[in-house]
Amino acid sequence: MIISSPTDYRRAAQKRLPPFLFHYIDGGAYREQTLKRNEADLADIALKQCVLRNMSSLDLSTRVFGEKLALPIALAPVGLTGMYARRGEVQAAKAAENKGIPFTMSTVSVCPIEEVAPEIKRPMWFQLYVLRDRGFMKNVLERAKASGVKTLVFTVDMPVPGARYRDKHSGMSGPFAASRRVLQAMTHPRWAFDVGVFGKPHDLGNISAYRGEPTKLEDYIGWLGANFDPSISWKDLEWIREFWDGPMIIKGILNEQDARDALSFGAEGIVVSNHGGRQLDGVLSTARALPAIANAVKDKLSIFVDSGIRNGLDVVRMIALGADCTLLGRSFIYALAADGQRGVENLLDLYKQEMHVAMTLCGAKSIRDLSLGSLDSQP
Ligand code: GLV
Repeated sequence: MIISSPTDYRRAAQKRLPPFLFHYIDGGAYREQTLKRNEADLADIALKQCVLRNMSSLDLSTRVFGEKLALPIALAPVGLTGMYARRGEVQAAKAAENKGIPFTMSTVSVCPIEEVAPEIKRPMWFQLYVLRDRGFMKNVLERAKASGVKTLVFTVDMPVPGARYRDKHSGMSGPFAASRRVLQAMTHPRWAFDVGVFGKPHDLGNISAYRGEPTKLEDYIGWLGANFDPSISWKDLEWIREFWDGPMIIKGILNEQDARDALSFGAEGIVVSNHGGRQLDGVLSTARALPAIANAVKDKLSIFVDSGIRNGLDVVRMIALGADCTLLGRSFIYALAADGQRGVENLLDLYKQEMHVAMTLCGAKSIRDLSLGSLDSQP
């Protein structure tokens, strides 16, 4: 299949993956309206073209918490990344390192921290969920620290998993899910050999390392529901703040008040996110939520944004709307599923090329030059 743009990887991933995995990453919650709006609202924003400004040298890099990023992009935490390619977290982390950006490991990754960290020199970022078992949270934070992690991404918009109706239809969950998945694997032999056979163990690696026994994936969604903690409040986060001396980013902020609360709490960053439209359907797209949040807290903490970013132009739009940096979730998983580490590296090159053209024609010589003034319309 010819890959000429980042979005080509979606179709390539669909061909390669058993449907239960493709739809798990591709789908969203309820009627998927927020999922669609994330993309549509962002794509609708008009960039302002400015010409004849001698754009022969551009700088696409940025700094976050003193760390240099070659692009204003980090790979987002995605659960089960290791089901999309053989030992997928390792491949994605290497791709990110080679392209000069951070990789964020999910709590519910397949590969454990101890498998990924020795494979890269750049410290990865680590994402923590609020689990009922606080012993696990403490243990995994200690292990992350011991592996050199400095930046913690703390996800707060999943006190309960969203209603992902597609998952029941696809075989990710629901009746006869396990046998349906075996049948799907048999009709997707490239995935079946590469990941199904040679990508084992299929496990929640970080959790198994704590429990001392495998945490199998037969009922992954059920596991999330049973172990996530809906009682969480800002107060519960205080011990983590005390324990974690590196930068802490609160992920899942969608309104100004929560952004201000994150600032008062002492977070160094927020991720403006609706979890890729996977949690509460009907909430604002991040492109719509971002400007007011940026207005409230810009320059007081680092603003990250995800959800709906599919190409380099979208990155430019998000930075112009007030973000300091973007996170890519689905977009990199499609590329990883299609072509492993090489796919993610190529994807990041495509983002870079698209950003380069967009910034040249918007008259922005560096990331700092992008602002609302770089746009002709807002969402
Ligand atoms: C987990 O983070 C999910 O969105 O399924």
